[in-house]
Amino acid sequence: MQIRIAQITDAHIFEDPHTRFEGCDTRASIEAVLAEIQSLGNIDLIVATGDMSMDGGFVSYRFLNSLFSGCDIPVLAVPGNHDKPGVASQAANFYFLTSTVKRDFGRWRFHFLNTKKDGHELGEIDSKDLAELSENIVSAGRKPQIIFMHHPPLNIGSAWLDDMKLENSSDFWQIVSQSSNIKGVFCGHVHQDNELSRNGVPVITTPSTCIQFKRHSRVYQIERLQPGFRIIEAQDDETFSHHLVRLEPSDDFSVPLL
Ligand SMILES: [Fe+2]
Repeated sequence: MQIRIAQITDAHIFEDPHTRFEGCDTRASIEAVLAEIQSLGNIDLIVATGDMSMDGGFVSYRFLNSLFSGCDIPVLAVPGNHDKPGVASQAANFYFLTSTVKRDFGRWRFHFLNTKKDGHELGEIDSKDLAELSENIVSAGRKPQIIFMHHPPLNIGSAWLDDMKLENSSDFWQIVSQSSNIKGVFCGHVHQDNELSRNGVPVITTPSTCIQFKRHSRVYQIERLQPGFRIIEAQDDETFSHHLVRLEPSDDFSVPLL
């Protein structure tokens, strides 16, 4: 048995459907991403790794709710710095997590972390969630494990984004070091594709479903790349693989050249 997960991230849906993000219609682009995921077939779960709303507005979550309700794949969402989980829980039926949660699928254990620090762009895992994560990692025993979270727990080499990574990342890595079976940490927030590692643990960042940020740029800069998402396949033999999928160019949501 294998489990196939589609990771989507940083949809940045506005309350006002006419507002654009650097010229991108974020609603049209996530609709296209969802259509592409559904066309792939055999996806067991969609994991949304935060910043699904740009402004935390009720209507933005109602839009996401109708979008996810229209597809027959379950969705688990962790919050990003732009999200308002309290508003999301009133507006949406999809599972918006507000604390550290684990889910076991087959031989695998998946962790979903809340790294939102109220009023800040950078991330933090609070002490209660750190304790829960530690317990969940230890209780997994020899199970292979994967972690999903919004803020990357390390620098990606882009100064303005590294200033808003997971603030207490040393606490995170101390807890992760209790297991030699953490196979990967999948993040959003940085709107770009990176495959990094820390202490032998792969840390992967996934492009946004809307606009992309330029890699290795010290300051905010857009990169003209198509919306994307990631497919993660975890096998019963404890191996796993992942790959990036980008949409074909479309005038409906494409980013204007800067
Ligand atoms: Fe973010």
